[in-house]
Amino acid sequence: MKVNPRHNQINRVFVDNMFYSEQHRLHASERDQPWSPELLAEFTSTLDRQIRYYPNIPQAFDLLSKHLGCGINDLNIGEGSDRILKTAFELLSGDPQWSVVIPDPGFPMYGVYASMYFNMIRQAQPTNGHITARDYLPLIDDTTSLIVVSNPYTPYGTTMSFEDITTLALAAKQHGATLLVDEAYIEFANSTSAVALINEYPVIVVRTLSKAGGAAGLRIGYSLADSNITKQLRDYNSMNAISAPATAWIATLSKYEHEVTHYVASVRANRDGLQEWLTKHGIDYIPSQTNFINITGRLNLNNFVVKHTMMLLGQHQIFTRVSIPAQPHTLEQLKQAILEAI
Ligand SMILES: Cc1ncc(COP(=O)(O)O)c(C=O)c1O
Repeated sequence: MKVNPRHNQINRVFVDNMFYSEQHRLHASERDQPWSPELLAEFTSTLDRQIRYYPNIPQAFDLLSKHLGCGINDLNIGEGSDRILKTAFELLSGDPQWSVVIPDPGFPMYGVYASMYFNMIRQAQPTNGHITARDYLPLIDDTTSLIVVSNPYTPYGTTMSFEDITTLALAAKQHGATLLVDEAYIEFANSTSAVALINEYPVIVVRTLSKAGGAAGLRIGYSLADSNITKQLRDYNSMNAISAPATAWIATLSKYEHEVTHYVASVRANRDGLQEWLTKHGIDYIPSQTNFINITGRLNLNNFVVKHTMMLLGQHQIFTRVSIPAQPHTLEQLKQAILEAI
């Protein structure tokens, strides 16, 4: 059997602890709050049709660009931001001499796609959970075709300043590279989006409806970039970029924006409240600008699925990653479980 020679470089870790669990899922930054019955009734009313016919992709582009207030030619849509990331790696690779810069640690698929498409992979590393332009600049040169930044920065939840992102956009431009800014959690952060840079620099901003958009199961992600870059990215899309139920979701969501706004406000308030509460109880954590928080130590929280990760913060330490619930009763149960676990 002949397989892609790069295949043995790919180090893929599959998550196997999340299926069929009856516990609260707080390990993957999903929305815990149900959508309103009105919204769900509207969404499901078209499902029969959505299942039987191929998706109306032009309509999805039209509705999402109106919803975001962006030019339709600057927008690309795909099955989750994960698929959009892959599309960018596909477009921006191909020459064996080219290199990619990714953050380490980072969203695991950066490493997977880097191994699939690049011979030369350079890793920018944070100091004390913060990653800055200074950590990237020494790794960027004329071989660089793609620079990946996540802002806020997964897995820590910290942010990169707009000045630093602009510095990296300029470095990308000077070296004929493209800067990809993954803004999966930007709605929860007090950060300026890199979208402001797309007309002046080779910048692709990647976003998702899985986190603030609360529709992780539907798999909808998108990118915003200058129309020239976007046109090329679209060449790498699947025949049908997203499913028909996903297009129906975009149509429904554009009428129920307030449910998203309300959810995001609740998560932000609960995150800030939880951080204060942790401080008051003397429990260490990494201050976060996302909808998750890393609490120091390995906590097994009764009735909750959480994620334990080893991260460098001064030294290697184990953290318990917990998604922030929007629902007050879940938040109270979470606090109780934390007190029982420490
Ligand atoms: C930083 C980051 N980027 C991208 C993704 C992918 O999200 P999705 O494919 O659901 O849009 C995630 C998911 O957790 C993430 O944390």
